[in-house]
Amino acid sequence: MKLHPSTGLHGTISVPGDKSVSHRSVMLGALADGVTHVSGFLMGEDCLSTIDCFRKMGVPIEVGDDRTVTVHGVGLHGLKQPTERLYTGNSGTTTRLISGILSGQSFEVSLTGDASIEKRPMGRIIQPLRQMGADITGVDDKFCPLTIRPGKLHGIEYTLPVASAQLKSAILLAGLYADTPTTVIEPAPSRDHTERMLRALGCRVDTDGCRITLYPPEKLTARDVVVPADISSAAFFLVAGAIVPNSEITIRDVGVNPTRDGVIEVLKNMGADITLSNLRDEGEPICDITVRSSQLHGVEIGGAVIPRLIDELPVLAVAAAFAQGETVIRDAAELKVKESNRIAAMVSELSRAGADVTETEDGMIIRGGRPLHGAAFETYHDHRIAMSMAVCALACSGDSEILDENVVAISYPDFFDALHRLGG
Ligand code: S3P
Repeated sequence: MKLHPSTGLHGTISVPGDKSVSHRSVMLGALADGVTHVSGFLMGEDCLSTIDCFRKMGVPIEVGDDRTVTVHGVGLHGLKQPTERLYTGNSGTTTRLISGILSGQSFEVSLTGDASIEKRPMGRIIQPLRQMGADITGVDDKFCPLTIRPGKLHGIEYTLPVASAQLKSAILLAGLYADTPTTVIEPAPSRDHTERMLRALGCRVDTDGCRITLYPPEKLTARDVVVPADISSAAFFLVAGAIVPNSEITIRDVGVNPTRDGVIEVLKNMGADITLSNLRDEGEPICDITVRSSQLHGVEIGGAVIPRLIDELPVLAVAAAFAQGETVIRDAAELKVKESNRIAAMVSELSRAGADVTETEDGMIIRGGRPLHGAAFETYHDHRIAMSMAVCALACSGDSEILDENVVAISYPDFFDALHRLGG
């Protein structure tokens, strides 16, 4: 994909549905009694992997036109043994959350994903699920493929070693099948879509600060889901609108769940001109967001905000490269175990454009304000690296290329069309 420097981005767009909420709508819809109509579903490869896994376990799921999905729930105990190994593609969320659900089933199943998934840490779910009584094994007890056999589950109280919604959710979903309540304690609040959706389906989930307790329900009752636009996808346009001069972009119906909106807070701290309007509640808070270009300045990004913007750090690093002064990203070692090592990837690609960036143990230091030039950017087969460097390319002097650009289909198949429509 070739990209030219942009002289300004203008317009109103809708970005695709939230990836986290889309996954959960299928998973919890499958386990509920009744039919779940999902609107605004993200038709990206990751969420299609989740649909595929549940279809293989006997759940009828219809994918309609216009981003609708209908899930015919089979109830908590209605999943069937698949005839083949489940394949989760590139999706860490599918792999980890489904492992929690599979731990409570009465059949044996094995699952794996692509080359990236086979490198991602699974010991973090194997350990607590085993404590709950699950019979789960992996390669060296750390990696996919995983095999899960029937086990009798009991509730545990578990303190997470990292603020991870995938890990928290795997334990809570296994807790649906336990004979006593399950409590998870987080080091800092991570996205709470699982808790919200479980409550909406009639399950008791109590949250007290960083302590979440799930009470095993008799059943879940299906309820339709309106998926908000994904703030993690909107983030690419928030940064593009901020750093490309003469820009004004409005993004409609974006989910601004307080466990996900760190990117807005940090961009505002950097001096971005961002306004929220039309705030409403659809089970998740939603609003329209407008960004206009402005001169950004460097900031420190660390501590409890990190889980609230973990997927937006690559594109925030791009914003930092165009900001005046130094930006320090810390407490973000989790970035090393995402779809790629996102610290190494961003340091290498921003350097390719001429930025002054240093990798640290748990983040990076970006000394912004140097003029950046276009280049041929690698994606590391990581959708968010591809989109972050595309945003960077628009604000560089000279032309750029994104190699392996099709990887954006994981979370945003029409990303380049949307950039084009805005004048990019
Ligand atoms: C997700 C949680 C986050 C995030 C991922 C989606 C989820 O991962 O990076 O893209 O839907 O629960 P971790 O929980 O591993 O931080």
